[in-house]
Order: sequence, then structure tokens, then C-alpha cells
Amino acid sequence: LPGAEVMVISNREPYIHNLEDGKVVLQRPASGLVTALEPIMRACGGTWIAHGSGSADQTMVDEHDHLLVPPDAPAYTLRRLWLTDEEQDGYYYGFANEGMWPLCHIAFVRPTFRASDWEHYVAVNQKFADAVVAEAKTPNPVVLVQDYHFALLPKMVRERLPEATIITFWHIPWPNPEVFSICPWKEEILSGLLGSSILGFHTQFHCNNFLDSVDRFLECHIDREHSTISAGGCTTQVRPYPISIEWPPAALSVQPPVEECRKSVRKGFGIGRDTMLAVGVERFDYTKGIADRFHAVGSLLEAHPEWIGRFTLLQIAAPTRSRLSAYRETQDEAEKAAEAVNKCFGREGWLPIILVPRHHEPEEVFTLFRAADVCLVSSLHDGMNLVAKEFVAARDDDDGVLVLSTFAGASRELREALIVNPYDVRAMGEALHMGLSMPAEQRQERMRLMREMVGENNIYFWAGRMLLDAARMRKRHNIEH
Ligand code: G6P
Repeated sequence: LPGAEVMVISNREPYIHNLEDGKVVLQRPASGLVTALEPIMRACGGTWIAHGSGSADQTMVDEHDHLLVPPDAPAYTLRRLWLTDEEQDGYYYGFANEGMWPLCHIAFVRPTFRASDWEHYVAVNQKFADAVVAEAKTPNPVVLVQDYHFALLPKMVRERLPEATIITFWHIPWPNPEVFSICPWKEEILSGLLGSSILGFHTQFHCNNFLDSVDRFLECHIDREHSTISAGGCTTQVRPYPISIEWPPAALSVQPPVEECRKSVRKGFGIGRDTMLAVGVERFDYTKGIADRFHAVGSLLEAHPEWIGRFTLLQIAAPTRSRLSAYRETQDEAEKAAEAVNKCFGREGWLPIILVPRHHEPEEVFTLFRAADVCLVSSLHDGMNLVAKEFVAARDDDDGVLVLSTFAGASRELREALIVNPYDVRAMGEALHMGLSMPAEQRQERMRLMREMVGENNIYFWAGRMLLDAARMRKRHNIEH
């Protein structure tokens, strides 16, 4: 799409300015979406429209609410959009995170749908759509709509910019029609998304679930052969595009050698020099299976007491969406599980689990990955999970074992990981044991294959495939009209 204007729309912004102790501090959020899209925008330039959520965000923008980012090497424009407390409660906490998020993840948290949240969701989608129209400099920009916060926006933009190429990517799973039908506004959500030229999911399975949902609840033509849906003169192509990370990742360029990382992390967290280390890095989200993984550590130590005193799991968990009770309960439950395992097995000077409930910047996370013998990703359900791919990218020494949930999209690609069912605590304990005992040669062979996969299927490949499909559609459209 040479020369096309590129716009990204997401709820979460790539750079947040917060006021801490009277000083403005720049933060990069813990979000797979941001991790994936940011390098693309650095490469393409353009405008990224997102909610300005930081306490000092308003002080950093110009009179158009624009800011050039990254702050130290400007490459594209961030347009911050402001939301009232009521809008945030209804649209973000309410409809997006108490409705859509549990609806799409099989994590057994009941979705909650309130009419008032829905009204805010509609209004905020409209507000972002208005911003797209106001920011667009050409009649046919490429609009990259991100995630479950904006199911209605594609149609709203299509109505005002009929020539736009709208590529929507759904970063989380899509449920089967039976589950999806719980949503009282299922038809609106489906037809909103069908304003897109291209609708992407991580896996073919999620695409099929979406096609089946449309088939069941909307009147339109579905071409299964080409995976397209036509409704009201508009055609949407539904395709899998497994998301990835930049390669090589920027955070890697500032890393000390692996041996130094191993030493400094162990020293920093008071872990013995020769202790085997597993790491987990996520937001404190109930989809991530954090408590289950702590129980798996208990199971490991019970079944293989030789690891007592010789192994520690270091879990970084960034508090997230804490205004919602399901999130506070997840954190409570995980803290209690860690305490119980530590009480049962810990001894003077050694704990099996160290839980650090705070946000870490990407460079710190990479150092942890490099220091670890094992990375443990035990999501109960996850669209892709980029932590798994970042761990692989961090290991330019070709070493380290990945233990990965079968319910994360990443398990379809990272086949050399030790794939586990996160609901089976004993099996997860055994996988940890296997990872900790694996001979170096086997570890390295597995890691090399995974690195090849992520290196090839990197984020530029992901964006390239979507943009190529979009370019083809534009050409076809020009021939037909
Ligand atoms: C998931 C979602 C993203 C979101 C991220 C962080 O990865 O797919 O859209 O940005 O979680 O969550 P938050 O609500 O803090 O943005």
C-alpha cells in the first residue's frame, strides 16, 4: 500500500505519562497489543489514536492533543483521546472488560452485561470513529482497528469514509456461537465488525467460530471457500494472522550477556547463585492461571523433593483493571496460593515462589528472561500470548526451556515448548521437572527451532501479510468499479 495513510485505533496507548512524586514519568504499558503494533508504527509512521489514560498525559500534548512519539526518536503521532470517568466505567471496565473479555475467554468468569455499559460502549466507539474522520487527511486511509474495545467502530468509520481500507484485528479468542449468543447485542457487534475490509484473528479456529456466529445470527452471504462475508454491498475477508513481535526486539540491544543477567537477577531478588530459576511475567489477569501455576510448584516439590532449596519461581504480575472485583479476587487468590506453597516448603533463606506484584518495563523483563532456566506460561486461555515469543526472542544464547499452555494461541507455533494443560496441576509440575532436568543439547535444539519460527514469523511478517491482502482487495475493487 505505497503512500497510504496509516492509522491505528486502540484503547491502550503506547506511551503513558504519569505523575509520580511531582515528576512526570514515562511508562510503556504491559499489553501484547502495544508490544506488537508499536514497532509497525515506528516503521510506517502515521497516527495512533488511543485513550490518554496517564495522570500527566494532558500536560504533554499540543493543542490538537497530539504528541510525537517515541519521545526520544519521534516516528509517528500519538493522538490522545480523553474519556470521562463515566465513559471509562461503562465502556472500558464495564462492557469491554466485564462483558466482552470473559465472553471471549474460556476462563469460567461469568460475563456481565449492563444496558448502561453498552450505551457507553456505543458512545465511545462513536467518539473514536469521529476522531478517525477528523484525523484522516485522505479519503482512503488504512485504518488499523485493534481489539474488543471497538467492535462497532469499523461500521461507523465505513459509513463516513466509504473508501477507507479498514483492517480490524481481534487480539483475543472468538467463542463458539452458543457462547457468543449470551451477549444481548450480538447482532450489533457482528454487523459492526463487518464494516471491516479485513477481519483478522490469531487462529483458523477463531475465524471459523466467527463465521459460524455470523451464519447463525445475521442474514448475509458467507463464502466459506474464500472465507468472505458479504452484507449490504460490503465484503469482509476473515483470515487468521498469528501475531508476533519485532525481530530482533529493541529491548535486546541494551542487554548484558546472559551470564551477567543470571547473576544480577539472582542477586537482586536474594536468590542463591546456583538456584534454578523459572520466571512468569504477566498482568494479574484471571485468564493467566497464576494461582494454578503456584500449585504446580507445590506439586513439583512434593513429587520431586530434590528441588527443595534448589529451585525458585519468580513471578512478576502487574496489577491490572483493579477496579473490577474479579481482578482483585484473582490477585488475592494468587497471593494466598503463593503463601501456602512457601509456608509448606520454604525454609530459612529460601522460598520456592517470589511474587512481585508490580509493573516492569520491557528492558527489565528481558533481563529476567535471560536470567531464567525456564519460562512458565500457563494461561487458561489466551489469543496468542506474546510473553512466550518474547522469552524466545530474549534468548540469543539459544538456551532456556519454555513451558507453554496448550490454550495459548502461541502453542500452535512454538511446538518445541513443553506443552501443558494448565488445569492439570500435577502434569504442570512434571513439565517443570522435565524442563529443569533437560540436557543442554536438547534445550538448545528446541530453542533454536523456536527462534527460527519467531524470527521468520515476526511482527513485520504479520503486518505485511495483512497489508498485502488489503492491497490486493483495493486493486480488485478498482478493476470492478
Ligand atoms: C490484552 C488485550 C489488549 C490490552 C492488554 C492490556 O492483551 O488484548 O487490548 O491492551 O490486554 O490490558 P489493558 O486493559 O491494561 O489495556
